[in-house]
Amino acid sequence: MGFSVHWSWFAALSCLLCMGGEVRCDCTEQGIQIQGGHYKLTKQLTAGSLLVYHCPEGYYPYPSLTRLCQPNGTWRPPPKRFLPQRCKIVECPDPSVLEYGNVSPPQDKYFVNNETTYECYSGYTMRGSTRRVCLPNGKWSGSTPICSRDSGNNCADPGIPAGASRTGNIFGIDDKVTYSCNGNLFLVGSKERVCQENGQWTGKEPACYYKHTYDTPLEVSEAFGSAIKDSLTTLEPIEDTQEGRKIRISKNGTLNIYIAVDISESIEEKHFNDAIDAVTKLITKISSFSVTPNYEILFFASEITEAVNILDFLDGKIVLSSVKNKLETFKVGDKNTAGTDLNLVFKTFLERMAIIKRRVGDEGFKEHRHVLIVFTDGAYNMGGSPAPTVEKIKNMVYMNHSREQETNSREEFLDIYIFAIGAELFDDDLQPLTAGTGGQHYFRMKDIENLQETFDEIIDEEEVKGLCGLHKEYDNGDTDSKRKMYPWWAYIVVQNQGTKKCLGSLVTPKFVLTAAHCFTFGDLPEHVTVEINDGQGKVKKVKTFMLHPNYSINSKTNQGVKEFYDYDVALIQLEADVQISSAARPICIPCTQETSDALQLVGESTCKQQEQRLLKNHLEKLNFLTKTGNSVEEKDAHAKLGDNRDACIRHALDAEGITTDDPKVAVTDNFLCTGGRAPFRDHIACTGDSGGAVFKNYEHRTVQVGVVSWGTKNLCKAGGVVESQDNSRDFHINLFRVVPFLKSVLGNDTQDDYAPLQFLDN
Ligand SMILES: *[C@@H]1O[C@H](CO)[C@@H](O)[C@H](O)[C@H]1NC(C)=O
Ligand SMILES: *[C@@H]1O[C@H](CO)[C@@H](O)[C@H](O)[C@H]1NC(C)=O
Ligand SMILES: *[C@@H]1O[C@H](CO)[C@@H](O)[C@H](O)[C@H]1NC(C)=O
Ligand SMILES: *[C@@H]1O[C@H](CO)[C@@H](O)[C@H](O)[C@H]1NC(C)=O
Ligand SMILES: *[C@@H]1O[C@H](CO)[C@@H](O)[C@H](O)[C@H]1NC(C)=O
Ligand SMILES: *[C@@H]1O[C@H](CO)[C@@H](O)[C@H](O)[C@H]1NC(C)=O
Repeated sequence: MGFSVHWSWFAALSCLLCMGGEVRCDCTEQGIQIQGGHYKLTKQLTAGSLLVYHCPEGYYPYPSLTRLCQPNGTWRPPPKRFLPQRCKIVECPDPSVLEYGNVSPPQDKYFVNNETTYECYSGYTMRGSTRRVCLPNGKWSGSTPICSRDSGNNCADPGIPAGASRTGNIFGIDDKVTYSCNGNLFLVGSKERVCQENGQWTGKEPACYYKHTYDTPLEVSEAFGSAIKDSLTTLEPIEDTQEGRKIRISKNGTLNIYIAVDISESIEEKHFNDAIDAVTKLITKISSFSVTPNYEILFFASEITEAVNILDFLDGKIVLSSVKNKLETFKVGDKNTAGTDLNLVFKTFLERMAIIKRRVGDEGFKEHRHVLIVFTDGAYNMGGSPAPTVEKIKNMVYMNHSREQETNSREEFLDIYIFAIGAELFDDDLQPLTAGTGGQHYFRMKDIENLQETFDEIIDEEEVKGLCGLHKEYDNGDTDSKRKMYPWWAYIVVQNQGTKKCLGSLVTPKFVLTAAHCFTFGDLPEHVTVEINDGQGKVKKVKTFMLHPNYSINSKTNQGVKEFYDYDVALIQLEADVQISSAARPICIPCTQETSDALQLVGESTCKQQEQRLLKNHLEKLNFLTKTGNSVEEKDAHAKLGDNRDACIRHALDAEGITTDDPKVAVTDNFLCTGGRAPFRDHIACTGDSGGAVFKNYEHRTVQVGVVSWGTKNLCKAGGVVESQDNSRDFHINLFRVVPFLKSVLGNDTQDDYAPLQFLDN
């Protein structure tokens, strides 16, 4: 746009060289200082350098957000003597647009931390927030308050967002409301909404933004998560029996994802790396949705640098894992990053689509969905407006169906998401480039820093709540961080003659898997409590529990094994479903369809394939948990498999109560063996770790492969993360060996108590 040099979200914090070779100072620092804040220059004081102002949270730079050093040594815009640059307090849009109600306190302007309360006139009822606070990003907390009276209209009153005006006051089928923003605010979201037959308004509630209004990472992840979910999944509710609605993702059609990242002026390596990390995170997250899209990934400034070509996917020359490798090793050479050609990006995407269409034919192309994701500030200065190219893309995907009639059915085949990121954003140019139905497609962010975390949050989306094994990957120190990293962990207390404490794992919303030895003869469901903090009360009531029918601790006393732990598994059925969220979600277990999806096994898959993917090496790193206070810590261990197994289980003979000289009498093939110090120092299981999941992560999903059962030495009665000794070993039930039991209970489809898990046929 206006600027001859473009600033991107990666811009350098300090820059030593001038790209053009001229290293003299063109501009001066006179008059550009900012009261209450500071500024950074992209190329010091040379022509083309962009000055970016920064203010503390809750403030924004005023009157300018940025200034550009021009070749003749002046700043654009020039500093104004009578309007010195300063940090101004953030303002929120006017909330007194509320109809049929009062806003207090009434004020001319509302600033950050100002509180407002809302009340409806008598006869009107309130929806939305009755109390809102002006937040540092220039938005009100909560949701738009709406006062309405039941008027028998088809749709509910859609309200008026703060700072907006609305035309349209009748809310019958096909009635339309349109929004505009007052003063110097601009509109983000649906300008027009239509009342549909189903009682819902089309689109999403719009919002009025100032130039200083930004979306927080949390808002972006929620909105983008729910929007992209629609692109990534086709939800087919199978048997809508009860609230335990089972969701499956259909794999129909082909999904093409095109990602473009603006790197103009990106001089600093770190910012570029952040971008790569964020894109990598995004595509791995997408892969957790059980879809296998084709990718086009490119970086752009005045020219395009292609990291991944979508045609290679079509030719079967590349797979997802190599995309990640490509990105990791990807370097942008000494490309000219001075200009920005956004149109070229869309032209490239259009070309790729045209080739795909030629290859697969018109009919085949109908089954292709396209998702375009562009990160830019929109300050293009070359190539002209991308708007006409975007129209061509729409034509191609909508297949020239005239807008009014059939486009609707084709609109879901194209989504264009724009992440506007930078100090100064060109909203008017960027917003019209978005496309797609459903949720928000335009996001306004300040910087790239939180983008990785933003994409990580996407998995919290409601609709993917059925997916087993999804979890957070980082510990941000919050109290509930560990809950979200291991959302399946459960704490089990059995209080009868004595008290037994065990761990367990949530395997469906209603079942917890644990060890059979946590129970003693005579224990009843009312003696058992299960703790899972799902935000709905920590302690869960137990309806019943079932031990593996073959579990029999005394069955080998006369063979020299005092306590025999084979088949040491049990399932606890809860009275009510656990409320699934990012803090409480089932772990994947062997031989289910969901686990095949998590392991990205396409087509008809088998238990054997799952086992080969999870326990394939002679030494497989696994983890289990130990309880510390109200939280858990992770322990590392290595299963000794194949040729390594015999040496590992031999140590069973050192255990107390074992007098046989054949370790296989005590440790059947149903056990995994971990522990020892070679080749790795394993952690050892402590009293209280019993019943917990032995698990492995695969592409951001957690799969349980074992249940902690018994060990040769009691090294830690008090618990904690403790290292193994040379000869101490732990034995865990291998879940692949107890599938018939799991299937008989969890897969039981002749009952109405719970949604059965779908197990593989073989
Ligand atoms: C400097 O250049 C800009 C545009 O190139 C022009 O608008 C401005 O008037 C010039 N200023 C002076 C003092 O020459
Ligand atoms: C609103 O915020 C401004 C700026 O911080 C402050 O001066 C004013 O007292 C606040 N008004 C109310 C009613 O809290
Ligand atoms: C999915 O694919 C199958 C077979 O390829 C086809 O019969 C079915 O109509 C498709 N479903 C949708 C929703 O496109
Ligand atoms: C679609 O429309 C464009 C121009 O709007 C035209 O060039 C193209 O030939 C049309 N394609 C089909 C398949 O009708
Ligand atoms: C229990 O053990 C018997 C043989 O000992 C075996 O045939 C049966 O399949 C086992 N039951 C289960 C559920 O594994
Ligand atoms: C499945 O559920 C039905 C109904 O509760 C029950 O009768 C049957 O025994 C169950 N099957 C198994 C294998 O537990």
